[in-house]
Amino acid sequence: MKGIVLAGGSGSRLRPVTLGVSKQLIPVYDKPMIYYPLSVLMLAAINEILIITTPVDRPYFERLLGDGSRWGLRLTYAEQENPNGIAEAFIIGADHVGDDSVALILGDNIFHGPGFSRLLRTNADDLKGCVLFAYPVRDPERYGIAEVDEDGVLLSLEEKPARPRSNLAVTGLYFYDNDVVSIARRLRPSRRGELEITDVNDTYLQRGRAKVVNLGRGFAWLDAGTHESLLEAGHYVRTLEERQGIHIACLEEIALHSGRIDADRCHQLGSHMAGSGYGRYVMELAHAARPR
Ligand code: DAU
Repeated sequence: MKGIVLAGGSGSRLRPVTLGVSKQLIPVYDKPMIYYPLSVLMLAAINEILIITTPVDRPYFERLLGDGSRWGLRLTYAEQENPNGIAEAFIIGADHVGDDSVALILGDNIFHGPGFSRLLRTNADDLKGCVLFAYPVRDPERYGIAEVDEDGVLLSLEEKPARPRSNLAVTGLYFYDNDVVSIARRLRPSRRGELEITDVNDTYLQRGRAKVVNLGRGFAWLDAGTHESLLEAGHYVRTLEERQGIHIACLEEIALHSGRIDADRCHQLGSHMAGSGYGRYVMELAHAARPR
């Protein structure tokens, strides 16, 4: 399975911050926002990841993440000229996807919860059609909404409905088989002029090939697209990290524990950031992983 992180858009709800820097590069507490979606793709055992940015922001993402080899990844970059819709990611990324399946994640989505890696890997391995990850929310009119029956079977999908049929939001993480590229290519822009991801998902639903996984209670799904949600996400990460002495979305930790890098490499990566708590954490992980 290939991965795509969609990190374009204008960040209009975060201005003036995003007048000078891409939204997905600003910090959520102690690390750049894009670390969180990248960590999700790594947990899903994906190594080849395309990062789609605006043309202006691309060099800054490249400076931050490089070719990904430091984490055992293969990162490549592409540009989205204008925010023409989330589904454009599959047209821009068609060569990257090739004849493989693909996971798309939005660059401002943060996921955290128990058993997440296993859930991701199981759904990637069993993929037939598409898998959507849903989450109950208080304000369903702000999201793509999934209606499911009592057995969890998907009945309908609607984008930001005025009168939502459920409170189950479709999150910004999607798994697709290879048909997604041709489906995206055949889409027509919606009334707001975008290639809507909900229309892609609806095509899978009409074909009887869409599945919904409810992340449910006890799981955290945050999007960091407004000043309030960004601050809330930062507080969430800080609380967890301080309380448990762990770091979430630590790319070096995932790379080490998945065998993408060894302890020496991990230590070297941490030592470049030894001035920060994050860097010292990475060095400690390396110490703990070294044979005694
Ligand atoms: O966050 C989950 C929601 O994401 C889903 O529930 C909705 O079904 C889906 O349409 C989307 O809704 P949003 O209102 O959050 O979409 P937005 O236009 O804000 O785009 C989400 C992110 O994707 C944002 O960080 C910018 C990026 N983006 C968006 C578009 C439309 C791009 O990089 N390029 C684009 O063309």
